[in-house]
Amino acid sequence: MPPWRDVIAVERGSLLMSDQTVEHYERIAADYDEHWSYDPDYVWRFSRAITDALRLTRTDAIADVGCGTGLYTRRLAAEVEPERPILCVDPVPAMLERLPASRSLQPLVASAEDLATGRVALPEPGRLDAIVLKESFHHVADRRETLEGLAGLLSRHGRILLVMLPRTIHHPLFHEAHQRFGELQPEPAEIVDMVAEVGLRASVSYRTFHMAIDRERYVRMLASRYMSVLGEFSDDELRAGIEQFRHAYRNDPVLRFDDHFAFIKGWVRPG
Ligand SMILES: C[S@@+](CC[C@H](N)C(=O)[O-])C[C@H]1O[C@@H](n2cnc3c(N)ncnc32)[C@H](O)[C@@H]1O
Repeated sequence: MPPWRDVIAVERGSLLMSDQTVEHYERIAADYDEHWSYDPDYVWRFSRAITDALRLTRTDAIADVGCGTGLYTRRLAAEVEPERPILCVDPVPAMLERLPASRSLQPLVASAEDLATGRVALPEPGRLDAIVLKESFHHVADRRETLEGLAGLLSRHGRILLVMLPRTIHHPLFHEAHQRFGELQPEPAEIVDMVAEVGLRASVSYRTFHMAIDRERYVRMLASRYMSVLGEFSDDELRAGIEQFRHAYRNDPVLRFDDHFAFIKGWVRPG
């Protein structure tokens, strides 16, 4: 067992997260990668989009905050071949434990808030050139303060990328899940404003990924609560939702939908 696994257990105490979020990711950690591995091309395309958006280079000091199992981080590492390991930050040890042992991935148990406030220090002295937060920023409680703290960790050519879903999504979820998602998900335009408010040069673009998923596979994904919004429902509510889904898509053995993501960028201003 790699030595950092011990560190995970010790540092757990510093985390400030809702029990529901922790439990959700502890429950899905083992199957997380499996949900997306049916289409490895999707993961590669996505990682390439992140590399392009951040213009990552080998010499960059990179952190992936809320990296989860490192499903995308390990592709970023393979593409960029960074000289220093990518710092893989996540507050849920069960997710980080799925990270492959690799010289180019350095795990750190911490939340975005922990890093932003300095409660957990960067393992290496110096600043970060690029920070990625892919589908993790919606879990952050005090977003403005956290963004400000993260921006403070950037080097003078530093940049940050927040990848997030918009409030309205085309995933074939059941009605109540769509509704709840819309209530919980922050509005990307507000995050863009926040990026500008903390002093970074802000911009946003949208990327679309065309999805095709076997319906029965998608049922298994729903049943395992593959999206955190599904953790909002009791077992009975989820069962009813899946029934609703089965009825709505009874004639579609393969589900096709467009997955739109906001790519929100913040660049350190020259000067
Ligand atoms: C939807 S997963 C995304 C994981 C990975 N970025 C990916 O795209 O596969 C969200 C991740 O955010 C992490 N997370 C939850 N709260 C967080 C926080 N306050 N700061 C940083 N990460 C957090 C979760 O543990 C989880 O691994």
